[in-house]
Amino acid sequence: MPVLECAVHWAVPADEPHMRDLLDAGERDRYERFMRAEDKARFVTGRFLARTVLSEATGLAPGGIRFTTDCPHCGGAHGKPRLRGSGLDFSLSHSGDRVVLVLSDGPEVGVDVERESDRDVDRLGEMVLSAPERDVLAALPPDRRKRAFHSYWCRKEALLKATGHGLAASMTAIHVSGPDEPAAVLSWDDDKAVSPVRLADLTPGPGYAASVAVLTDRPLKITETPIG
Ligand SMILES: CC(C)(COP(=O)(O)OP(=O)(O)OC[C@H]1O[C@@H](n2cnc3c(N)ncnc32)[C@H](O)[C@@H]1OP(=O)(O)O)[C@@H](O)C(=O)NCCC(=O)NCCS
Repeated sequence: MPVLECAVHWAVPADEPHMRDLLDAGERDRYERFMRAEDKARFVTGRFLARTVLSEATGLAPGGIRFTTDCPHCGGAHGKPRLRGSGLDFSLSHSGDRVVLVLSDGPEVGVDVERESDRDVDRLGEMVLSAPERDVLAALPPDRRKRAFHSYWCRKEALLKATGHGLAASMTAIHVSGPDEPAAVLSWDDDKAVSPVRLADLTPGPGYAASVAVLTDRPLKITETPIG
């Protein structure tokens, strides 16, 4: 079976005039509504990265690229961004000092990066983890639990971003492999479940977890640009 190439592009948030210049009217409104400078920077960097990478892949001018964001559930404009008619799929994520975009030559892709935080992983685990995953987490020594939780979280959110459901679907219905095992979906007990799925972990650097999901049965060949 031919491999599916997935290009992973990393950036650090910035907020430069030449990046803002590429935003369309709706994006500018959204940019203005962010209260915190760091949220503005993550947003504008993500959209800039998407336009730069998609321009290279399609030959379109970056300034001419318009994304659709239709929500499949309610029709609102807050769904997965897409470049209609390109035959490509992409996904964006940002957290802390990381912005990441993954490009797929066809199959639906989702990416998630999370800065590891001191959130209460036991309490959050009830909203995110399946029962077997909670058992794995509880058996780990305390110094490994934060990392393990964020690994589970990213694998699941990447999958739900590939399907476009986002957090409108239950995370606890998804059972993924343990943090020390190669990333894979073991079961998904939900009417939103899809198959086949390939999962892989990325290398976001210390203090972060990141994963990619692609709705395909083809083996993935992932190339990551250096962060910067
Ligand atoms: C998608 C979602 C999980 C992202 O959560 P997050 O951890 O805060 O943010 P991330 O940085 O990982 O991802 C954000 C990016 O995902 C993309 N995105 C937004 N909605 C998406 C969706 N439904 N599916 C896939 N990707 C989505 C966008 O590119 C967004 O960044 P941008 O708007 O700055 O370009 C969350 O926004 C969500 O669940 N949205 C859908 C909720 C929904 O559909 N509710 C039902 C309404 S009727």
